[in-house]
Amino acid sequence: MPAPPAHPIERALNAARLAARCSAVCLVLAAVALLAGCGDRGGAAASGEIYRDPSQSIEARVADLLSRMTLEEKIEQMHGVSLPDSRGLNPTAINERLGIANFEMVDGARGVSAATGAATTFPVGSARGATFAPDLEVEVGRAIGSETRAKGGNVILAPVINLLRHPRWGRAQETYGEDTFHLGTMGAGFIQGAQEHVIANAKHFALNSIEDDRFTVDVHVDERTLREVYLAHFKRAVDAGVGSIMCSYNMVNGSYACENTHLLHDILQGEWGFDGFVESDWVLGTRSTVPSALAGLDIEMPTGHYFAEPLVDAVNGGAVPLPVINDAVKRILRAKFRFGIFDGKPPLDPATTVESPEHTALAREVEEKAIVLLKNDQAALPLVRDQVHRVAVVGVLAATPNLGDTGSSLAVPSYTITPLDGLQSHAGPVEIVDLSHDTLSAADQAQVAAADAAVVVVGLTHVDEGEGLVAAGDRKTLDLSAGQQQLILDVAKQNPRTIVVLEGSGAILMENWVDQVSAVVMSWYPGMEGGNAIAEVLFGDVDPSGKLPVTFPRSADQLPPFVNDQNDVTYGYYSGYRYLDKNGFDPRYPFGFGLSYTTFSFQNLTLARSTIAPGGTLHATVDVSNTGTQGGDEVVELYVGYQGSRVDRAVRDLKAFQRVSLGPGETRTVALDVAAADLAFWDVDTNAFVVEPITYTVEVGSSSRDLPLGATFSISPP
Ligand code: BGC
Repeated sequence: MPAPPAHPIERALNAARLAARCSAVCLVLAAVALLAGCGDRGGAAASGEIYRDPSQSIEARVADLLSRMTLEEKIEQMHGVSLPDSRGLNPTAINERLGIANFEMVDGARGVSAATGAATTFPVGSARGATFAPDLEVEVGRAIGSETRAKGGNVILAPVINLLRHPRWGRAQETYGEDTFHLGTMGAGFIQGAQEHVIANAKHFALNSIEDDRFTVDVHVDERTLREVYLAHFKRAVDAGVGSIMCSYNMVNGSYACENTHLLHDILQGEWGFDGFVESDWVLGTRSTVPSALAGLDIEMPTGHYFAEPLVDAVNGGAVPLPVINDAVKRILRAKFRFGIFDGKPPLDPATTVESPEHTALAREVEEKAIVLLKNDQAALPLVRDQVHRVAVVGVLAATPNLGDTGSSLAVPSYTITPLDGLQSHAGPVEIVDLSHDTLSAADQAQVAAADAAVVVVGLTHVDEGEGLVAAGDRKTLDLSAGQQQLILDVAKQNPRTIVVLEGSGAILMENWVDQVSAVVMSWYPGMEGGNAIAEVLFGDVDPSGKLPVTFPRSADQLPPFVNDQNDVTYGYYSGYRYLDKNGFDPRYPFGFGLSYTTFSFQNLTLARSTIAPGGTLHATVDVSNTGTQGGDEVVELYVGYQGSRVDRAVRDLKAFQRVSLGPGETRTVALDVAAADLAFWDVDTNAFVVEPITYTVEVGSSSRDLPLGATFSISPP
């Protein structure tokens, strides 16, 4: 809490006492202090302490407070002070003299960090990406933000919005997917919700998508690829008002991200006008004193190594101009005023918010909407209760809480519903045969054969993928283990109605077994309530409606190379579905794909105008019908292509999407908007985004490869 302002009389007395004890120089200083106090009229504002007066503008408060700070006090604001404290929070310094409260930071990619004790543990980021529901992500952000505040934190180190360049990235699960538009939209949702309670932190800026060599890798990227593919979603986070950004461990074009002038000073703080603070990733994130400060790094975390005394010395020695420090401290103070931290706000959320019934229900709802039905031959699913009498549930993972990585995103709930738990509690009259192990005896095989259906739960765990150094690192392969593949084949041999439930961060190759099974469901790392949601989908209580936010290829050859053991890599313009489209590859399941128990059709794509101005917006509408006999959700996806562009462009880019709930037989008109500015390319000749006056193709449908409706429009010359 900020210290109460000193009364002017008390300040004058202190100055006089000081004067009585010190030298002539000191006497002069004391007199100055006394005179300064003379202007005070009582109270914060009247005492001249504009910074303590919440009715003043933030900029006025920042300027006033800054003017009162010594160099040492300023630099003390620019670094963390310890590893997690007893509450599991990472603090920066409190300034008692001026009453400056500190940041209390904590991780929370899927729920508030395990370091703080139990918390609602949501499905991971890739699962949440699969909902294609930014409104739901607002709620997730709000819930995680509220639990963070209840635990004393005021900065949540989330969302992760690194573009998934390759599914072997160890932290693939933490991000929303492989498309910049979708990623930015989902991230903006989280930020909006979280910042009702705390400051959000979009990370890791930038091009952090390899784990094993994350501390050393130099990612080379050309300017156009950087701007269009790897930074566009961070720009959306800035536009959404994110309060802080974490720079990453890796280098970009020869310079560490946290001392990268181009990334931080030129683009983030310059062109984008980001006025929040930039903090480094932990321990090895900050690599220097002078280059980092000059580049625009504001806070070294978790402690002050480069940004403590060495930075004071660098300023005193002239290597870092004082205005650089002032700008950094302004960004820090601005955030403290903007989010109420300086004024002792926001208040702590009640402890009862942590794992509240509302939050755990939200975790379940998110997973219900995240599960992707990939294959469903002969209506193997749902398992209709009065038609199916006995279901064998196979595989160790069926009975294993499998919530994701054990690195910094580790969150632990006080309970986890496994798939087996969920199936048992939702079975009603159906008999569940528990075969939750990975090797089947002859007796087990007979049980599988005797069941009406077999559910095999397989996939990845924290042993296969996770954060580098502190956890598993990058995936070694896109395949399931040989044992799991064999298990699927063994079960499929015994039971013609074999349903595979996959867990993990994302793409899993399945060519060796997919044709042998009837149904495949992707459930991701499903969160603490995941087993309930999985059971609801399998029994048909909930219609599956998730869509893949990442491509599931047929082989690793369909993806760009993934190099995790070299210190130099080059990221090209194409990855994900844009890479497959460009190369004419046929994925196993494309980006945006997901089946339902009902059917949908699309009609009447209408564009409000056939020509729009370069600063205008395309307004499109499309009718979506539920042509089946039960309710369900469809995600309407709109992609744009480019005719006659003067640069090489993607076959299509996702530019709008909308989830819509439809009852049986219902039709709704869905509106989709695309800003012309979002169709620009980065022109390397003029160093600017250019909206081309060309013809654009609009395609609308239910996945990046199922786009039944098309139209064209033009953008007029400027
Ligand atoms: C991770 C960050 C995390 C930080 C603090 C780092 O190693 O890369 O994502 O916020 O640790 O735990």
